[in-house]
Amino acid sequence: MERALCRVSDLADGKSRGLDPLNEGCDTMFVICRGEDVYAYRNACPHVPMAKMAWRKDEYLNADGSLIRCSAHGALFSIATGECIAGACVGAWLTPVNTVIREGYLWLAGDFAPRRQSRPRSGQQDTAAAMDEGRARP
Ligand code: FES
Repeated sequence: MERALCRVSDLADGKSRGLDPLNEGCDTMFVICRGEDVYAYRNACPHVPMAKMAWRKDEYLNADGSLIRCSAHGALFSIATGECIAGACVGAWLTPVNTVIREGYLWLAGDFAPRRQSRPRSGQQDTAAAMDEGRARP
């Protein structure tokens, strides 16, 4: 799936921004712009299933903007890798979202499962829910 997420010029350097690519009514992913690089993750903390991370709209970073900070219990994550380096889930990982910059826009590239899906049939793994909970990687 390729879908335009936003204009690159709308991303402020050193800041984070929540996005709702499937129009689910909440920000299901977020991006952080640092210079020429854009990092994108699902808005789901690996510490607690379904936990959202922003402490208010578009605010996913710690005070000095050097790390991603989960608002629930304060776990800190590397912006570049998504690894939890301090707090309640050290060693766990945020789920990365594949994006690409083209023609001045940030595009969603590859699969992006809805936050909630219908109940899986018997014997099927609910990959989307696992991804939302940080238990699976895309
Ligand atoms: S839910 Fe994120 S640190 Fe606990």
